[in-house]
Amino acid sequence: MKKRRIRNSVLALGILTAVSTLMFACNPKETETGDPGLLLGFSQIGSESAWRIGNTNDIEEQAANYGINLMFENANQKQENQIAAIRRFIAYKVDVIAFSPIVEEGWDNVLQEAKDAGIPVILVDRDISSEKEDLTACLIGADFYSEGVKAGEYLIRKADSMETEELHIVEITGTDNSTPMRQRQAGFADAIKDDERMHILESIDGDFLKSRGAECMRTLLEKYGDEIDVVYSHNDEMTLGALPEIEKAGLVPGKDIIIISIDGGQDAIDVLKSGKINCVVECTPKLGKEVMETAIKLKNGESVEPMIHPEEQVFSDEGDLSNIAPRGY
Ligand code: AHR
Repeated sequence: MKKRRIRNSVLALGILTAVSTLMFACNPKETETGDPGLLLGFSQIGSESAWRIGNTNDIEEQAANYGINLMFENANQKQENQIAAIRRFIAYKVDVIAFSPIVEEGWDNVLQEAKDAGIPVILVDRDISSEKEDLTACLIGADFYSEGVKAGEYLIRKADSMETEELHIVEITGTDNSTPMRQRQAGFADAIKDDERMHILESIDGDFLKSRGAECMRTLLEKYGDEIDVVYSHNDEMTLGALPEIEKAGLVPGKDIIIISIDGGQDAIDVLKSGKINCVVECTPKLGKEVMETAIKLKNGESVEPMIHPEEQVFSDEGDLSNIAPRGY
């Protein structure tokens, strides 16, 4: 009888443990020690590029590393989905909201709602444009303007080395009204504006998509043919879409046309090594560590840096490409 009672209490303990484990699993705010954990709501733009997928993976990995409970929502390239996700995060009373705004305008109302609910917001990757102050705590993302400047400076050095008198440039831009589109365009334009050899024939919206990069390149080749000396593309995805179109037109990318891309994903770096891309300006998607550390500070009521830019480099045919470490995206 005694033995049986012990077995019953072991069984009861087992059932209790199972039930409480289930409760912890159902309530992401509670950790196994009973302390309320940090719940972070993250609204991602979509899955438009290798960069974006690398960014999502990094956010998920770093949330796990820091023991942060992540409510992740993918907006599939729609601003209204991001706004709805942020409203769900507010209703769920998350501790911190982070999101990558697809475009700069149109966030005032939902961010005011987050502020009224006392939930701090981290901008990840891209910025917003607003006349209201203090809607967000900080921005963690690349310096897109400086990326555009680096692309322009590379082109000036390339023109010098080729001793060319004129270069006709086509620009395939990212999503209209997004921060990287605006700033990569402005940085590049500012860098080349005093160089009389540089002429931008056209800037065309490729929406950061490979399929649009191909379409844009077809349109540009039909319009300008072999007048095009340079393609400046705002991301690798569009560049990788454009290259086969250049080859179909009987031109050799990297030789007949100088190709400049931004991001630095593995596929583009491999093509750079093969000689079909001349320059890739790095934009790292690995922002997760900074996001998690900032979320912890915000939850603890500590002050945070208003702007955090990661270090980024330039890979080009000017340098040794043999030692580039695996990119991881
Ligand atoms: O906002 C960063 C940009 O968005 C990356 O350059 C691009 O690849 C992504 O889709």
